[in-house]
Amino acid sequence: MKGLILSGGKGTRLYPLTYTRAKQLIPVANKPILVRVIEAIRDAGIEEIGVVIGQTGPEIREALSDGSRWGVKLTYIPQDSPDGLGHAVKISRDFLGDERFVMFLGDNVIEGGIDGLIRDFATNDWNSQIVLKHVENPSAYGVAKLRPDGSIEQLIEKPAEPQSNLALVGIYMFDSYIFDAVNAIAPSKRGELEITDAIQWLVDKGYRVYPHVHAGWWIDTGKPIDMLEANSHVLEELKPYISPEAVCEGSQIDHRVTVERGAKVINSVVRGPTIIGEHCVIENSYVGPFTSIYHHVTVRNCEIERSIVLERSSIENVDTRIQDSLIGRHVHVARNDERPRALKVNLGDHSDLRLE
Ligand code: G1P
Repeated sequence: MKGLILSGGKGTRLYPLTYTRAKQLIPVANKPILVRVIEAIRDAGIEEIGVVIGQTGPEIREALSDGSRWGVKLTYIPQDSPDGLGHAVKISRDFLGDERFVMFLGDNVIEGGIDGLIRDFATNDWNSQIVLKHVENPSAYGVAKLRPDGSIEQLIEKPAEPQSNLALVGIYMFDSYIFDAVNAIAPSKRGELEITDAIQWLVDKGYRVYPHVHAGWWIDTGKPIDMLEANSHVLEELKPYISPEAVCEGSQIDHRVTVERGAKVINSVVRGPTIIGEHCVIENSYVGPFTSIYHHVTVRNCEIERSIVLERSSIENVDTRIQDSLIGRHVHVARNDERPRALKVNLGDHSDLRLE
């Protein structure tokens, strides 16, 4: 089997972070989502992976290179215009050949990896396997209606009036009949070749499409709140460790905390699950659960929890606890006495917020 990762898209709902960074490269628990996707595919035993790239292609190529760092071989497939997931499959034909493949959206994070799914697909004669998940807002996704026997009756992309609350997760398995499907369908109202329509075509033509209902968590990291949620879930799964090259002085650090090499934690309280990145300085501060602090960040005389801070930012002398916040790269936050005292920020790279 081969892998296909879709990593185009502008990530507009994550502005300003994604003005300057492909959304798939934003780290969750200090590792880019795209790297998590590559590792999930590799851990399922697949080494040859195509990466469909759009406008942010150069940045993605630079970050991933040939993939050898993760033990995989990456082939980049440029998609000149964002014409849909079906179109991405179409242009990947040369890379995929006639092999069965798993397609994984580069901004999806799923509990428990995909090796079980891949094994099921490899040992059955299904033409396709899709992954479904019960959600509260199905109209934001492709939606599946199943028959009482569990087979697929209908798949509709972002219906105004959903017939069920089963959303299509961005992980799909196909054999080469999918190329007949993407060649047969027409663009949707939003002008895209929808993979949902292509799968409906397979169902209509009598091909075997198996719907797997996923029991664990799944996050499509479109919005800041999704990033924080994905971060919390992944931190909970992380096996914590304190690097021997980290310095922890006069601090209370609980057992669910990871401190990476070169970091200094001084006179502080850190409660997990939390990760402190390489060469960070945490001083006279409280770092609460579900926080990811990326490399070279300084936190001094502050309290922060359930947040993501990207590299080379600093937060100093802020009296209000920072919570539910996404802070980009090279951001500087300092004290402000303004009311109300809650501080909720969504700062982009190179922002400079001065709070008195
Ligand atoms: C795409 C698919 C949709 C699926 C979703 C999962 O939506 O079109 O069917 O439910 O991914 O993340 P999009 O990200 O294009 O809005």
